[in-house]
Amino acid sequence: MECFLRELPKCEHHLHLEGTLEPDLLFPLASRNNIQLPDNFPKTVEELNKRYSQFADLQDFLDFYYIGTNVLVQEDDFFDLAWAYFQRAKSDGLWHCEVFFDPQSHTERGIDLDVVVKGFQRACDKAQSELGITTQLIMCLLRHLPSQSGLATIESAREHIANGTIHALGLDSAEKPFPPQLFCDCYSRVKEINPSIQLTAHAGEEGDADFVTNSLNLLNVTRIDHGINSVHDDILIKRLSDNQTLLTVCPLSNVKLQVVKDVSELPLQKLLDANVPFSLNSDDPAYFGGYILDNYVAVHTRFGWSIDTWAQVAVNAINGSWCHQDRKDEILREIANVVEKHRPIIEKISA
Ligand code: HPA
Ligand code: ZN
Repeated sequence: MECFLRELPKCEHHLHLEGTLEPDLLFPLASRNNIQLPDNFPKTVEELNKRYSQFADLQDFLDFYYIGTNVLVQEDDFFDLAWAYFQRAKSDGLWHCEVFFDPQSHTERGIDLDVVVKGFQRACDKAQSELGITTQLIMCLLRHLPSQSGLATIESAREHIANGTIHALGLDSAEKPFPPQLFCDCYSRVKEINPSIQLTAHAGEEGDADFVTNSLNLLNVTRIDHGINSVHDDILIKRLSDNQTLLTVCPLSNVKLQVVKDVSELPLQKLLDANVPFSLNSDDPAYFGGYILDNYVAVHTRFGWSIDTWAQVAVNAINGSWCHQDRKDEILREIANVVEKHRPIIEKISA
């Protein structure tokens, strides 16, 4: 089954490029760029990995995540980071990904937004030409910063938004103290710049179902990142199902940030039964101890889905993607091929 899950064509929709910064890249980049890490920061890769296994909650993780972003300075740093992720994800069976980046975590330190976008875009181009992975960039605003900072970020990204280099807008960072309604002006501004930009937001990770409803109502998003707390609101679940709104679920992240104690507690079967589409994603794999295939395997270990259910999950992820229909059709054909290749073996084993 793991062989089938590896080959199953995957789309990742919830991946923070800055969250792919492995400790064994963090320390060399800190040295290369003369960045002084805080005195109480773990001193070795082993110590840092150990600390990463003990996050108390989202904020505890974010405190480390933002220290990590400080070591990214030059265009090549952004390129190296993203390219390492694409290569790693390729071996997990990734075909398409829509990846987040957090410009304010860099511009607040005096790094030009163009440096960040150019480094990441160069890695995206190489992923397409050398690995056959299609990509789209999602610019996230940090919700712990005021909306004026978000508006200024949108203004400095105007050209990238207008020409589609930035394909979508997202919203991340500490959720509960910063509800979606604080960012209405940012979401309407990007639509004025490019009416075809896509919109998403983190909601319902630590925040309750109202954060999801308000993201849909007030920010006009068509996708929800995390969204697992939606299951506590039947009207919302019906709405997500009726509109086929994709939830980008991150199983290992939810465990590591103490949102649930175990992957088995995630409401994945409930979402399937209610016909709410979701994809499975790694969020910040360097911090949460697993890339996309690890997340698929963790879910399979707990839920033991049939090959047809897995095919449905994979198809839902494609259909919820923002790539061109021709690309979707290509990936859908490959899903069918992989399912037909593995079905006789898996059915023989389970008979
Ligand atoms: N939630 C909110 N903000 C984030 C996350 C997350 O999972 N990862 C990086 N920034
Ligand atoms: Zn996230």
